Amino acid sequence: MLVLLPTTILAQEATVANKETVVELGPKRYMGRRIAQTMHYLGAEWLTRDSREKEEACSKLLAALEVKPRQTVCDLGCGNGYYTLRLAKLVGPQGSVWAVDIQPEMLKLLTDRAATRNVTNLKPTLGTATSPNLPAEAIDLVLLVDVYHEFSHPEDMLEDVRACLNPTGRVALVEYREEDPDVPIKPLHKMSQRQVMKEYEANGFKLVGQFDELPWQHVFFFARDDSPLEEVELNPWRQP
Ligand SMILES: C[S@@+](CC[C@H](N)C(=O)[O-])C[C@H]1O[C@@H](n2cnc3c(N)ncnc32)[C@H](O)[C@@H]1O
Repeated sequence: MLVLLPTTILAQEATVANKETVVELGPKRYMGRRIAQTMHYLGAEWLTRDSREKEEACSKLLAALEVKPRQTVCDLGCGNGYYTLRLAKLVGPQGSVWAVDIQPEMLKLLTDRAATRNVTNLKPTLGTATSPNLPAEAIDLVLLVDVYHEFSHPEDMLEDVRACLNPTGRVALVEYREEDPDVPIKPLHKMSQRQVMKEYEANGFKLVGQFDELPWQHVFFFARDDSPLEEVELNPWRQP
């Protein structure tokens, strides 16, 4: 069985101490779930650790997103840009990636990494605890990896995420599996399928896809409840 590394614990336990960051302390619970604290930028190295691909099969996730050249996508809660830079490649020079975070330091880490790789199709954007500051009806895919459970104001955020999607736009929600005791992540940073469905359905989303082949994470695809995309039934997680 895999064990937590000290850096993992550091990253998960860190709180936002810097008053200049735009992190507000919101409600501690949402629909019965305890909200986790924001991961501090000082723990950002954990996000680009060498073992991440092996532990989380990140390439598999990227393939499952079915991102196409020229699309407009958003990496919401992008951190230092582990997924942002990969998305930038997938959409190509004629597409664009909105990279949103509430910690300016994370955006600086991302833009430094982008500069050394000559990536030019990014829109780094400072969000707030209540809004990702995205344009209306403009986005094909919003990727949320290991961040939704940290939103201090989930309802406000979901309202704006819904508003930024075009009618066939999707949200890819990626969260560590709460149902799975083998996932070596603290319970506060995991989510169950049941809780996710409760929160997203209550906020105007329907399930349009699911990907269950990652070692540690659930992947849900949601669309606006008025989207022409077909709704699917949830396939309940079963421990292998
Ligand atoms: C655990 S990190 C994950 C980073 C990235 N998604 C990844 O997987 O590499 C969570 C990130 O979400 C950001 N975050 C938390 N709440 C946010 C909000 N309301 N809007 C935008 N970003 C937020 C944090 O600042 C942090 O950089």
